[in-house]
Amino acid sequence: MSQSIDILGGISAEQFLAEYWQKKPLLVRNALPEIAGLLEPDDVMELALEEHISARLIKQKDKDPDQWTVKSSPLIKGDFQKMPKLWTLLVQAVDHYSFDLAELWKKFSFIPQWRRDDIMVSYAPKGGSVGKHFDFYDVFLVQGYGRRRWQLGQMCDAETEFVAGQPLRLLPDMDVNFDEVLAPGDLLYVPPGLSHYGVAEDECLTFSFGFRMPNITEMMDRVSDKFSDDQLLKNPLADIIRDQQSPIGQISQNELEYLKAKLFEQLQNSTMLEDAIMSLMSEPKYPENIPEAEEIGAGDLEEALEQGYQLMLEPASRLLYTDQDDALLFWANGEGICISEQFAPHLKQLADGQPIALDEALFDQEILEDIAQLLNDSVLMLLPAEADE
Ligand code: SIN
Ligand code: CO
Repeated sequence: MSQSIDILGGISAEQFLAEYWQKKPLLVRNALPEIAGLLEPDDVMELALEEHISARLIKQKDKDPDQWTVKSSPLIKGDFQKMPKLWTLLVQAVDHYSFDLAELWKKFSFIPQWRRDDIMVSYAPKGGSVGKHFDFYDVFLVQGYGRRRWQLGQMCDAETEFVAGQPLRLLPDMDVNFDEVLAPGDLLYVPPGLSHYGVAEDECLTFSFGFRMPNITEMMDRVSDKFSDDQLLKNPLADIIRDQQSPIGQISQNELEYLKAKLFEQLQNSTMLEDAIMSLMSEPKYPENIPEAEEIGAGDLEEALEQGYQLMLEPASRLLYTDQDDALLFWANGEGICISEQFAPHLKQLADGQPIALDEALFDQEILEDIAQLLNDSVLMLLPAEADE
């Protein structure tokens, strides 16, 4: 029997993926009680003022709440002076600043890591919102503090029109068919395209666990970057066999097909396409959040073995792998990485989100060198065992 998942209200991952994911909303009361109190409004305010943080302060004019302004980071204390009655502070990637929050991604392990975007937090006083809108991605909205009323409406798409002249992509109306107040720990899954409107019932924090997908433009860009680095491909192609003449101003259908075929051939018969996609998908969204590591060597690690350290993924980094014909290939933070065959199964475990103990099982010069390299690149991090409690 399929396992029931608490944060999905007891339904199985299979049922959620078949019936709700990308299709319809799901409300689960008290799905993630452990999120309550992880951050307080003051923590969010402090984070918003940090140097590298990505944040937006959205305000509605007191005289006309339909007039909006948005100030993007860097935010300074002065931005919070003379505040209107209605405002919202959005802070991105709070999972890179709180281990406890980053740990909560584990509850969503029915969706692979490469789809994860970040956890955004919104802070608003009573009445605050970001307006009626839709997003192009999947999001689990989890109430962390205070209460927020969520209304859901019609499905939207790329053709949907927005309110003119505003700095946010706001919808003029919503056909409300869902209206619920969420309390701390409650979760609402909102699929891409579904219009939603969340208004703070009192001072509140809402966490958005967002899931990203690449778009074709990004993938094409990355593919073309990879191919343009290959010197051999800079040589002109051989000419098509010329057995008939055509008007000199024309590229014949034959010639066009030949040129296209040469392009497709390259795309199909090379590992560069996979490399391009995997590099893109392993790219961190906020590279500036990846901490600078203290240089460590394999010798230091040897000394640290059996001292109770754990190896885990640095929360702001991304580590992904493919498993083709029993060969594990890894990409981290936008690049392919080369590691020893012995370390591959351990690194796979780390990429799957499971910390591993730094103990005798890793006592091998090549493994220790791989680990040191990944620690120095801040793909992995070392945690004393007690920090995990
Ligand atoms: C919010 O938390 O107010 C906005 C989140 C969203 O609408 O995606
Ligand atoms: Co939204």
